[in-house]
Amino acid sequence: MTRGGTFASIDIGTTKICTVVGEMAAENDMRILGVGIAPSEGLSRGMVENIRDATEAIKTSIDKAEKSSGTRILSAHVGVAGQHIACLNNRGIIAIPDRTRPISPDDVTRVLDGARVVSIPTNREIIHVIPRYYVVDGQDHISDPVGMYGTRLDVETHIVTGVDSSIQNLTKCVENVGVQVDGLILEPLASAEAVLDQEEKEQGVVLVDIGGGTTDIALFLEGSVYHTAVLPVGGNHVTRDIVVGLRAPFQAAEEAKRKWGHAIPSMVDAREEITLEAFGSEGSKTELRRRLCEIVQARNEEILEMVTAEVKRAVHDDVISAGIVITGGGAKLQGIDLLAEQVTGWPARVGMPRNLHGLTDLLIDPAYATSVGLLQWAVNEAEASAWHRTPKASLDLSGVWRRLGNWARVLLPE
Ligand SMILES: Nc1ncnc2c1ncn2[C@@H]1O[C@H](COP(=O)(O)OP(=O)(O)OP(=O)(O)O)[C@@H](O)[C@H]1O
Ligand SMILES: [Mg+2]
Repeated sequence: MTRGGTFASIDIGTTKICTVVGEMAAENDMRILGVGIAPSEGLSRGMVENIRDATEAIKTSIDKAEKSSGTRILSAHVGVAGQHIACLNNRGIIAIPDRTRPISPDDVTRVLDGARVVSIPTNREIIHVIPRYYVVDGQDHISDPVGMYGTRLDVETHIVTGVDSSIQNLTKCVENVGVQVDGLILEPLASAEAVLDQEEKEQGVVLVDIGGGTTDIALFLEGSVYHTAVLPVGGNHVTRDIVVGLRAPFQAAEEAKRKWGHAIPSMVDAREEITLEAFGSEGSKTELRRRLCEIVQARNEEILEMVTAEVKRAVHDDVISAGIVITGGGAKLQGIDLLAEQVTGWPARVGMPRNLHGLTDLLIDPAYATSVGLLQWAVNEAEASAWHRTPKASLDLSGVWRRLGNWARVLLPE
């Protein structure tokens, strides 16, 4: 394993910022070298609202990751979310003039450039153009056309756009810390990378990342992404409902939710009482746990109904055979998978990051699906690029990693 394949990612969430440094140990095996987690500041619903506070919080997270990994982070892949995100699917088509030569990586770049030509408002920029599949001379669903022969190459793409000022604000916060942004990655796509099986993606699955300020959705069909969306509602809204419903301070409501919350109120004892800090002269109050759970259920039900409506707007729900995979901190609510099955009528499970080695204690948790997925996305991108630039005859894994040396994203101590 060369040291060239070392990467860093920053998940700038509404509640926490998580920087991860890692390297690819073997195929599908990620070794985590360091993690830095800091409480989030200056962010609301996945977007920057105070650059100075956000920069400070990002700095704290990066400093911690540098210390824990013994590296200096020069650049990183950064997650992007927020209500400003929009998506569309578009097709690109090119002719291959010389039918005696195989399709080259340059042809693929050309056809993807063709697919980028879409009319979007001037205040938006393209974040991703993801090839869903290629068509060579009418032959459908080709995952990689390089090396094949044909006269016409089509590509079906999923295009993600965001409002340029929101993207600039996010980028600025990271650059203020002296770290270059290698690429922005839509957060639900990163989470999907960390928690979904290929089989689920093939058979149709909805990835739902319930964070603090947003609920992110990525819908996969036939192995590739078909629809993405960011809903401006998350776990913080559940906590705020408890603040209002039980008249408790935010922190006490948050703790109560984590400790006693359940998405199915009928599954908790009808007489069980809980004591929590509350406003007013007494300073605390006793409530039925079921009351708390009813509040938690109502908002989670609403979130899941919004997810279902969003998915049904994009596709017929018959195609979601693998159902829904819930991740993000909100997936830690007891019974959330049962509630999701009730509300959506699809199979549901909670998604955890996997295939990790090294400093993983903190990361094997649904709240860190995005953080881990960002790193995996960065590695996959570099690997794909190295594959296309390497003469196939001489390609072996060490060759790929030698090329990945060019992609070194962190400085390791000698
Ligand atoms: N045990 C638990 N039960 C219920 N909710 C929980 C639990 N643990 C964490 N949460 C909730 O998860 C949310 C935070 O999730 P996460 O860390 O994924 O958010 P984030 O990435 O910071 O935010 P976002 O992705 O929306 O920008 C908070 O609202 C928190 O209350
Ligand atoms: Mg998040």
